[in-house]
Amino acid sequence: MTEPPYSYLPKVYDEVVDLTFYSDMIHYLQKVFDKFEIKGSHILDLACGTGKFALEFARKGYKVTAIDISPCALEVARDNAIEQKLEQNIEFINRSMLDLESRDRFDVVLCLYNSLNYIRDEKQLKKTFRNIWKALIWGGYLLFDINTITGLDYIVGKTSFCKAISSGFVIADGFWDEELKQADLEINFLVHQDDDLYRLVQEVHQEKGFYINRLKRILSTSKFQDIQDFECFTFNPAFKAPRAFFIARKPTPDQLPLKLV
Ligand SMILES: C[S@@+](CC[C@H](N)C(=O)[O-])C[C@H]1O[C@@H](n2cnc3c(N)ncnc32)[C@H](O)[C@@H]1O
Repeated sequence: MTEPPYSYLPKVYDEVVDLTFYSDMIHYLQKVFDKFEIKGSHILDLACGTGKFALEFARKGYKVTAIDISPCALEVARDNAIEQKLEQNIEFINRSMLDLESRDRFDVVLCLYNSLNYIRDEKQLKKTFRNIWKALIWGGYLLFDINTITGLDYIVGKTSFCKAISSGFVIADGFWDEELKQADLEINFLVHQDDDLYRLVQEVHQEKGFYINRLKRILSTSKFQDIQDFECFTFNPAFKAPRAFFIARKPTPDQLPLKLV
């Protein structure tokens, strides 16, 4: 039976995923914060997964709210926070980003490691951006990376590997749907039981590709300003990069466009 994505993967995440992404992104985020003079003390880590970024910011002294749809990912994140004695600084919430609402207002919202690709239509993406806009303070920043159509087609869609992990084996196979502009990654876990028996856990991860200009347009109609896209980990334009990084700012009230009555 196919399980929802991140039903099992978080348990073996560090053995399956490319962890250099995290050191690269933490280094890059520091540069982004410096370059755009991003300040603040309260961060929302949207689609936090196993909490790597949430923990990193908590360690730096930020107050962090971390949201994810996957109970399994949150359990791993919470355990990691307890192990690193950071649980006091992080509030974990099990919720879909589509239903984001918060009484708190955040200085920065992060949505990292292509989490927004999991939103599979523009209407829902717009709703998510509007929710994020509302959750930010005036002048606050949304920072996210996203797999581009090029990245999904040439990397995720062509993924194919089999790997031995501590609990058994993982077999991944990607497929690119040109019409839907969507990459489907089927991940099969063979989880070792007793003797020679393995339990099969199958997750299908579907990631939707959006054109960069379209993303900018949706951000802009969601009332974000100073929208910039970069080739991820650089400050070059995203253009044909496999992964794009976006910065968008919620304006201050005086910067809102005047409404004609
Ligand atoms: C590739 S992982 C990245 C996790 C984390 N941001 C990181 O960098 O380690 C994608 C995450 O998005 C989460 N996710 C997918 N759809 C979501 C939704 N609608 N609302 C909240 N989280 C979602 C998954 O559960 C998963 O933890």
